[in-house]
Amino acid sequence: MSRLIILISGRGSNMRALVEAGLPVAAVISNRADAGGLVWAREHGIATEVIDHRLHVDRPSFDQALAETIDRYRPDVVALAGFMRILSAPFVERYRGRLVNIHPSLLPAFTGLHTHERAIEAGVKCHGATVHLVTAELDHGPVLIQAIVPVRQDDDPERLAERVLRAEHIIYPRAVRWLLEGNLDMTGDHVRTRDAQPQYLWADGSAEGL
Ligand code: GRF
Repeated sequence: MSRLIILISGRGSNMRALVEAGLPVAAVISNRADAGGLVWAREHGIATEVIDHRLHVDRPSFDQALAETIDRYRPDVVALAGFMRILSAPFVERYRGRLVNIHPSLLPAFTGLHTHERAIEAGVKCHGATVHLVTAELDHGPVLIQAIVPVRQDDDPERLAERVLRAEHIIYPRAVRWLLEGNLDMTGDHVRTRDAQPQYLWADGSAEGL
């Protein structure tokens, strides 16, 4: 049986979507003891761990402690779900091909923070979310699936964020399951599903209940 570790820093709604999809979650790990998602995970009988980044002198020592905790669970896949720490190159290398992230934009557009505000500000008409493998460069790495969410004329960042988040909750479990089940062929930056499942979600209100 494959095993999944989820790393969170906050409310953990994507963590919850992964658990509720029935994925084999071995533990949830947070760098913050007050992450809201930890409470939900404990209530659902999931092992939790806290590795507080403030108790480590530098990034390498935090990353080392994090990796040691992760490795005790011998996971096949490690999923970042709102994990707000930049991970060092050695950490990323250690989990190459099995470390995955969800980012609230159509990468490579809008890397970094405040993506919904920036999308509205830029006047783009399509926004969304991306699940990608993690590489040493922040918010880059091979794309597994993307959700396209139209930007409406009356959108504000909160309304847009809410629709993107609902799409995230659909695409993240889908992509993590592909990884866990070995359903992906990877060549360089190109990732394809072996059974030709669509690697996009068109979340315009006419499909997939959105
Ligand atoms: C999500 O928007 C995710 O894309 C980003 O951080 C947010 C985390 O939200 N990486 P949650 O903690 O999963 O609710």
